[in-house]
Amino acid sequence: MSTPHNSAAESAFAKTVLMPGDPLRAQFIARTFLTDAQLVNNVRGVQGYTGSYKGTPVSVMASGMGMPAIGIYSHELFHFYDVDNIIRVGSAGAISPKLKLRDLVLAQGACTDSNYAHQFGLGGTLAPIADFSLLETAVGAARSAGASFAVGNILSSDVFYNQAADTLNWGRYGVLAIEMESAALYLNAAQAGKRALTICTISDSLVSGEALPPEERETSFTQMMEIALETAVQMAAK
Ligand code: HPA
Repeated sequence: MSTPHNSAAESAFAKTVLMPGDPLRAQFIARTFLTDAQLVNNVRGVQGYTGSYKGTPVSVMASGMGMPAIGIYSHELFHFYDVDNIIRVGSAGAISPKLKLRDLVLAQGACTDSNYAHQFGLGGTLAPIADFSLLETAVGAARSAGASFAVGNILSSDVFYNQAADTLNWGRYGVLAIEMESAALYLNAAQAGKRALTICTISDSLVSGEALPPEERETSFTQMMEIALETAVQMAAK
């Protein structure tokens, strides 16, 4: 069994898959947090690993950047690999002045400027939302970890270098942060009848112009990973 983008065996993935954008971060998570991690996919260098965390099988695979990329990988995991839960672990730019660098955002909903949902032919706007059981579990894990976090809406944009729109306008409607993947992930989960959640670390701020240095991006993600992994463990026990 394989797909055009994934050469893993049919039963190679655990029920919960963590998805960072960056393949090297997938490798870092597998090596740092998982026991007995095995490489299960490496098509196009999009590394996927399965191992265990506190005795629970967990997988991690990169999503690549942007909605077309996570659209492909999450569709295949949900439909062809029988994955139940995908937790995106990524970075985001703050739109809200209330967020500081390194804060976490648990994305309850994902607004978008993309046309991704058009494919479903619904004739209206389907609100891309997180699965409540994943969100509730992650909120509990974030509280236990003493994390500085916010729960709310984010914006999944098709453009990083936006030449026309004032992204900060979204902040006037309570949107907290911008990234490029979650709306497609949430829509795919809705279509598949599966669960998805995004947890993001604030790596830069469109409000203040500050940004984390690249080396700090890696270390500040540790708390986010532990919350995502703890969520995976608790979901397996439900
Ligand atoms: N824009 C889009 N995606 C991002 C950003 C941003 O400013 N920061 C981290 N991911």
